[in-house]
Amino acid sequence: MAGSVRGVHLVGWGAYAPSLVLTNADLEKMVETSDEWIVSRTGIRERRIAGPDETTASMAAVAGLRAIAVAGLQPDDIDLILVGTLTPDYPMPSTAALVKDAIGNKRAAAMDLAAACSGFVFGYATGEAYIGSGMAEHVLVIGAETLSRATDFTDRGTCLLFGDGAGAVVLSASDEPGGTLGIEMTTEPSGAYFIWLPAGGAARPATDGTLKAREHYMKMKGSETFKMAVRTLGSTSLRALEKAGLDRTDVDLVIPHQANIRIIEALGKALDFPMEKVFVNVDRYGNTSAASVPLALAEAVGSGRVKKGDRLLLVAFGAGLTSGAIALEWTADPAASARADAIGPGDVKVLPGYLDPVNPFPPALEWLLERSEQGSPK
Ligand code: ACO
Repeated sequence: MAGSVRGVHLVGWGAYAPSLVLTNADLEKMVETSDEWIVSRTGIRERRIAGPDETTASMAAVAGLRAIAVAGLQPDDIDLILVGTLTPDYPMPSTAALVKDAIGNKRAAAMDLAAACSGFVFGYATGEAYIGSGMAEHVLVIGAETLSRATDFTDRGTCLLFGDGAGAVVLSASDEPGGTLGIEMTTEPSGAYFIWLPAGGAARPATDGTLKAREHYMKMKGSETFKMAVRTLGSTSLRALEKAGLDRTDVDLVIPHQANIRIIEALGKALDFPMEKVFVNVDRYGNTSAASVPLALAEAVGSGRVKKGDRLLLVAFGAGLTSGAIALEWTADPAASARADAIGPGDVKVLPGYLDPVNPFPPALEWLLERSEQGSPK
């Protein structure tokens, strides 16, 4: 890529989605809404919910281990672990530090990235810079979220949108042709409060008042976000393609942030991408924020939508308002997806803290546990 001293290739990919499913019919019982309204306004039919034993770090670690296996590497080959998330296990330590331990890596630097739904794309750009400059050989970039724990299940304007999950890639140095071709990132603070989580930070520390006012949940101005998203996804995509020296018609597959099918379709229309060239799984996962693009990427590759030599455009937007796009030429063997088949949640263990554990599962969804085979929360 222009600006990088060395070429950077995406050599591993992986994802993890928890098994609990929250459907639109379930939401109909919780807030005043309908399956018809949700599907027609968002395209979402169901979303995954992390179980009581799962956190952002645990899901991130499974996705990360899968990506490392697909790359044909060992955990200790990774020099840098980046986790894009707006729902870290704790404000400190970083989720990336917990992931490092959970995957059994002894030598990487590890840090989180706060760019909301663009967190994975911003992480990819950071990994690109580390490898391109010679500071790292192999970087694990993860997007992971447990949004169900920051969602107000009494707010019908937001609770239908979000789900949990994780996705990851391994980036490696390589002198082969292809790999990353162009990256663009933007941040527009004029939309900073379109999507925000007001309390729990330095400006509004947790108090009884913030708890009572439900200020520890995500708030959103839906239609303002929608308009800005369509505009910024389009302009960021075009700029990344321009940096890559590609035309829109050169793109084989677009993997956009899965926020809302109408936003995705508007992007397709604005940039003249036929929908056959746009990957969509928002119907099954909803908006998983930083996990959305790498989760969709892993599914796209695993389902045969990507082949060697394809030009891909990954593009996201999120709170901030951030936006980022990556144009790349795919050089890996898609069949390597199978190397991750045997890896699951039993292969990772997140370091416990020294305080007594709590049940972090949203009380509003406890009935979901009873319905599932997972049994009751501890
Ligand atoms: N069920 C039924 N009716 C509803 C619901 C619901 N769940 N939610 C809102 N409504 C009603 C509203 O009250 C409103 O009624 P009114 O006209 O009587 O006031 C009507 O439906 C229309 O509401 P709008 O907000 O205008 O609906 P819109 O078409 O904009 O869709 C939506 C809302 C789906 C939230 C949309 O604006 C959207 O997807 N915005 C983008 C959100 C997004 O992508 N966020 C990303 C976050 S990224 C991150 O970093 C976390």
